[in-house]
Amino acid sequence: MKTLVLWSSRTGNTKAVAQAIYDALPGDKEIVEEGREKDTAGYDLVFVGFWGFRRGADMAARRILSSLHNHKVAIYGTAGTYPDSPAARDYLANAAALLPKDSTCLGTFICQGRVHSFHIGKRSEHAEKVHPMTPERLARLREAEKHPNEEDFQKAAAWALEMVEKAGC
Ligand SMILES: Cc1cc2nc3c(=O)[nH]c(=O)nc-3n(C[C@H](O)[C@H](O)[C@H](O)COP(=O)(O)O)c2cc1C
Repeated sequence: MKTLVLWSSRTGNTKAVAQAIYDALPGDKEIVEEGREKDTAGYDLVFVGFWGFRRGADMAARRILSSLHNHKVAIYGTAGTYPDSPAARDYLANAAALLPKDSTCLGTFICQGRVHSFHIGKRSEHAEKVHPMTPERLARLREAEKHPNEEDFQKAAAWALEMVEKAGC
């Protein structure tokens, strides 16, 4: 079984989850940042990671997903939103929908990730207009501050092993 873990990360959250996935994987494995030249041929399973961007996957992840032909794929991500929210489910479903028809999504995983702009107190004017701060939003962002945490890494690792099992090669 040859596995490839691809990740895209602006502030380190998704990279940290990618590392937890990579560490959990048995056998022949590689970890590479998305956007770097990488021939995916010959990998039995490819993990594609994204950070939530404008209600979907970030652009580097979108590019990889839509060009990943003929592969078994597992999609994971981090986002400011709660992992069990309809929004999170949408991000994952939209990401999976980008895969070419000749590829298969074996499963998905998402956890919260600290939102950098909130952390440094620099929300853009655009963000203020589109998502005005409400008590619910504030609570969500405060919770996101604590992620990804050890529990998220463990869940990501367990999920990764499930994906290996599903890939069955
Ligand atoms: C420009 C920008 C747009 C974002 N858009 C969303 C979004 O639409 N939904 C969401 O849940 N989180 C959003 N986030 C939060 C990030 O997805 C989250 O903090 C993620 O964990 C960042 O991952 P990284 O550290 O790997 O870059 C956004 C963050 C930035 C900087």
